[in-house]
Amino acid sequence: MEVKVEDLKVLFSEEQIQKRIKELAKEMNAFYKGEDVVAICVLKGAVMFAVDLVKHLDMPLQMEFIRLSSYGSAMSTTGKVNAVDIKLPDLNDKNVLIIEDIVDTGLTAKFLIDFMHCNFNAKSIKFCSLLDKKITRKVDIEPDYYGFEVDDKFVIGYGLDYDGYYRNLRYIGYKEM
Ligand code: IMP
Ligand code: MG
Repeated sequence: MEVKVEDLKVLFSEEQIQKRIKELAKEMNAFYKGEDVVAICVLKGAVMFAVDLVKHLDMPLQMEFIRLSSYGSAMSTTGKVNAVDIKLPDLNDKNVLIIEDIVDTGLTAKFLIDFMHCNFNAKSIKFCSLLDKKITRKVDIEPDYYGFEVDDKFVIGYGLDYDGYYRNLRYIGYKEM
């Protein structure tokens, strides 16, 4: 599949994304009620979402960044999660909020949640994803928070890439096949 930006259809506009982020932040502010939180951004896809989301969170917050990858080619999953860089501080007794771009098969989410449980005794672990592709799920896992549900299409933009490109789009789009 060749993807040109002029072929993309808008699935979620910049306005829709920003509005939904404020709603999610409001829920989180109510849930954490001023407790310390460590927000963990899963690079590279979640970068836009994470930075926009944390700007609306009002509790004392630290940010960490980890890098994982599961995609072998531009659009097909390898089914294997690679921990490219996962150095984290001590998260014992911390409220851990994992921030992802999209939950697809769920393997990445499961890997991360298992990783937290194996390595730390966190006070709480919550998983937040901008997008939830429920229909392609392979492992039984649900994000605690998600922005929008998407059906089985390959989506691009606002952090999500096609072969490394288009992460910089302010909207989320797809190419009609
Ligand atoms: P999972 O491990 O199958 O749940 O896949 C999660 C990762 O696959 C995400 O963090 C994305 O990097 C990537 N991914 C899944 N679906 C899409 C998509 O539609 N567009 C771009 N990346 C995707
Ligand atoms: Mg990702």
